[in-house]
Amino acid sequence: MKDDILRVLLSQEQIDQRVHELGAELTEKFKGEEPLFIGILKGSFVFMADLVRCVDLKSSVDFMAVSSYGCGTKSSGAVKIMKDLNEDIAGRHVVIVEDILDSGVTLNYLCGYLQNRKPADITLVTLLDKPARRKAPITADFAGFEVPDEFVVGYGMDYAEKYRNLPYVGILKPEVYSN
Ligand code: IMP
Ligand code: MG
Repeated sequence: MKDDILRVLLSQEQIDQRVHELGAELTEKFKGEEPLFIGILKGSFVFMADLVRCVDLKSSVDFMAVSSYGCGTKSSGAVKIMKDLNEDIAGRHVVIVEDILDSGVTLNYLCGYLQNRKPADITLVTLLDKPARRKAPITADFAGFEVPDEFVVGYGMDYAEKYRNLPYVGILKPEVYSN
């Protein structure tokens, strides 16, 4: 698997340090509250697991699954809810945890969808932000790293469902896409 990586964009150490910083900022922001962390499957599962362990609050977790990408590297533009929440979010401080904010289409749709359920507020946390690709009017409240307009894999993120288990964020060799 690691032979398919052209270069490492963010090392395990860089990610670990930044996730700790984000956890501390969220702990401070929600002091005295019990926020609900919502991980957007599948891409956020690794980040979510690391992040919630860096937040020193009585928080809870839930997950949603949405589909916006097929097997390729381009967004289809359509957002479909594949798994909805188990918890009621009315009056809750909701923290959406994403792997990467790309066109913003997914999160823009999700925020509107969840806003209808009257949470106290919605905070957007993304590990990676690719602002160059933004199409929808959305910005993250907390972003781990700004990344260039390149397709990345690892630390939860996939290409055709592979590479999610890489412990770092990397860029694939071009020949991997043509196979
Ligand atoms: P958006 O709706 O275009 O912002 O896309 C959001 C989702 O697309 C992310 O949560 C990822 O799952 C996926 N995605 C976008 N860019 C990449 C990438 O570079 N690598 C892997 N997945 C990506
Ligand atoms: Mg995702």
